[in-house]
Amino acid sequence: MTIRLNIHKIKNYAKFLIIMVLIAILGLVSITIGSKSENISAESLRDEFGIAYTEDIEENGNVVEIDLEASEGEIEIFDGYKTKVWNYNGSVPGPEIRIKLGDTLKVNFTNNLPDETTIHWHGVRVPNAMDGVPGINQDPIEPGDSFVYEFTPKDAGTFWFHPHVRGSEQLERGLFGTLIVEDDISDQYSKDIVWVVDDWRLTDNYQVDPYFVTGHDLAHDGRWGNVITVNANLNESLTVQPGERIRLRIVNSSNARVYAPSFGRLDAKIIAVDGMYVKEVQNASNFELSPGNRIDVDIKIPSDADGESYKIFDNYTRYSNQLGIINVEGEVVETPSFEYPTNPYIPDWEDAINAEVDKEYRLNARRTSGGMGMMGGIEWTINDKAYPDYEPFEFKYNEFNKIKFTNESYRLHPMHLHGQFFKVISRNGKQVNELFFRDTVLLGPQETVEIAFIPLDKGEWAQHCHIQEHADAGMMNTVIVK
Ligand code: C2O
Ligand code: CU
Repeated sequence: MTIRLNIHKIKNYAKFLIIMVLIAILGLVSITIGSKSENISAESLRDEFGIAYTEDIEENGNVVEIDLEASEGEIEIFDGYKTKVWNYNGSVPGPEIRIKLGDTLKVNFTNNLPDETTIHWHGVRVPNAMDGVPGINQDPIEPGDSFVYEFTPKDAGTFWFHPHVRGSEQLERGLFGTLIVEDDISDQYSKDIVWVVDDWRLTDNYQVDPYFVTGHDLAHDGRWGNVITVNANLNESLTVQPGERIRLRIVNSSNARVYAPSFGRLDAKIIAVDGMYVKEVQNASNFELSPGNRIDVDIKIPSDADGESYKIFDNYTRYSNQLGIINVEGEVVETPSFEYPTNPYIPDWEDAINAEVDKEYRLNARRTSGGMGMMGGIEWTINDKAYPDYEPFEFKYNEFNKIKFTNESYRLHPMHLHGQFFKVISRNGKQVNELFFRDTVLLGPQETVEIAFIPLDKGEWAQHCHIQEHADAGMMNTVIVK
């Protein structure tokens, strides 16, 4: 009896031991599998990126040299009335600079403004020292001084340039231009057109309202104007022939206004976002074009469209605004036939939703103590810091990185990252698969957005809200890639 009992006890004990050992082994195995799958997923996410865009560009030896001057001037937005502006080379928008992929651009820039300035080449992957951000990679260029910008863009596409000093005033007064980097596809369209969409806050005398960064602008979504123009025209129009296939590059240079261009009956497809070709084309209407964003739209004009006019409206707010009009007239031409240009290498990154967040940025505002002065008593903050107070964050070079923006405020924030293109992974925790890269993403009130990217361009890069008033009131920091 006792012996049997003991044996029974021993048997139970052995069972217990075996079970414990099994649990331990299982635990170990699952830990190793777990950590392995984490590694594998970061690595496989890197692999999935592949050659979605290149780290380096082969220069073709051709140097395109231009002189660029910023100065005061006048334009006529309303017939018969002069509006004083600041501009590049005498026009608003400034010059449409066109180069070929592989060309080196050399810009001899002179500042003839009554204010210091710099030029930032928005979306262009330039060497860090050419990025034009005072306090980070360039000293401001004083009135009367010059600076040479020289770089070889690594990507073909639609880019633009603007100052990075008090953008709330300098962009609003008219300082912006476009940089188009062409590839072989550019020539195949019947027309390649740039529309720079901007809004102005004009006084009753048709002058730029000189009260920049008002308390009201700061407490809201920045400075929204009372006049919308395309290429500084109230009624921009384009005349085409039936059958033409047009590439329309739309740039939002506004301080703060968001647009949702709508193309009505036109067969219009987005082939590129923020300069870079998409993975799959999508209908062009209702893309949210926030300050900084660009879309390239492929438009096929029907061959029986003689005499038609197509209006392109902005439908972002409940008041619809006409942006421009395409008038069709003349002989029918043969429609250029080629596949939509796309970038099949853009990763889907379906697993990215499960990858760890490397850095979180909380976006918010706070009242400044004293409440006096130019900024209307409000600062816009990233992680409770207002630029020039900031903490740079270091990204993992050539690896998968994921960051999370949490908009704790009720205002809009188009967040822009210099030097990198990223993909939106989720909105409010829900996975999204945008079939394109971006350099600027719009966060709505209280929205959370996760983005991911592979940093290939070394340096310290600005990251900020592209609403100029928010950026000038502190909503900027930097990231470091080394
Ligand atoms: Cu167009 Cu720092 O931005
Ligand atoms: Cu903002």
